[in-house]
Amino acid sequence: MTDSTQAPTPDAAAPDSAKSAKAAPPKDRRRLPPSDVAFPKTIKSFVRRAGRTTTGQAKAFEEIGPRVLLPYQPSAIDLVAVFTDAARASGQKDATARPTILEIGFGMGEATAHIAALMPEKNFLCCEVHEPGVGALLKRIGERELHNIRIVAHDAVEVLDHMLPLQSLDGVHVFFPDPWHKTKHNKRRLLQTPLVAKLAARLKPGGYLHCATDWEPYAQQMLEVLSAEQLLKNTAEGYAPKPDYRPLTKFENRGLKLGHGVWDLVFERM
Ligand SMILES: C[S@@+](CC[C@H](N)C(=O)[O-])C[C@H]1O[C@@H](n2cnc3c(N)ncnc32)[C@H](O)[C@@H]1O
Repeated sequence: MTDSTQAPTPDAAAPDSAKSAKAAPPKDRRRLPPSDVAFPKTIKSFVRRAGRTTTGQAKAFEEIGPRVLLPYQPSAIDLVAVFTDAARASGQKDATARPTILEIGFGMGEATAHIAALMPEKNFLCCEVHEPGVGALLKRIGERELHNIRIVAHDAVEVLDHMLPLQSLDGVHVFFPDPWHKTKHNKRRLLQTPLVAKLAARLKPGGYLHCATDWEPYAQQMLEVLSAEQLLKNTAEGYAPKPDYRPLTKFENRGLKLGHGVWDLVFERM
């Protein structure tokens, strides 16, 4: 899923990075991991892509960022404390009653802002590593005056491992994760057995995992891996109908008109 309004998929960027990976890095940089990645040697589901942050996004970083951005930390966060402001804004006295949904890889945040506006009674904890995407969602948060989103601009796998306690989530959204089309890159796909086990363990019983993709081989992989996870059960027979809350983004709409398929999967934590 790639257009000018959408974060490009790493597959688009991969050939160059794959080629440059073969060239030896300059000696003085060889042992320096990216400063914000705690475990640089694990296979990542993303590549850092160059991207221009617009003036509007930069302004949103300054104005909205301090209230919405949560720094990555290698220890558990207190979700109730993090979303106190969201509870206040929707007139709830009991912030502990608010469900929390994790979104992994929100891209430019179009679906995220739509869903958060639709459900002010829920908390949305959203991870994205693409800086212009983070800026774009911050801008949407400002424009729509949303109070129920917090962003961790960091690898979601590390966020899961270190910041989120077991059975702390009511839902997880993974919409159009990078498909990593080429066989040699398939290992980078996010939705594989170990990650699905981590997600299932962090969901509360009755919580859900909703994934969507427009790449059929990845849809098949998702169905296989999710069905094999013992803590999860499918809410549909195979693929699920698109839940109403997930908007048809401009890009997805264009793909559908061209006859491309989209597959939703909704599994429940037992
Ligand atoms: C193809 S885009 C889809 C974006 C959005 N969900 C949509 O439907 O338009 C996938 C996004 O996931 C992000 N991503 C991939 N792996 C990630 C990870 N481990 N943690 C956080 N974000 C990640 C990428 O930076 C990219 O923006």
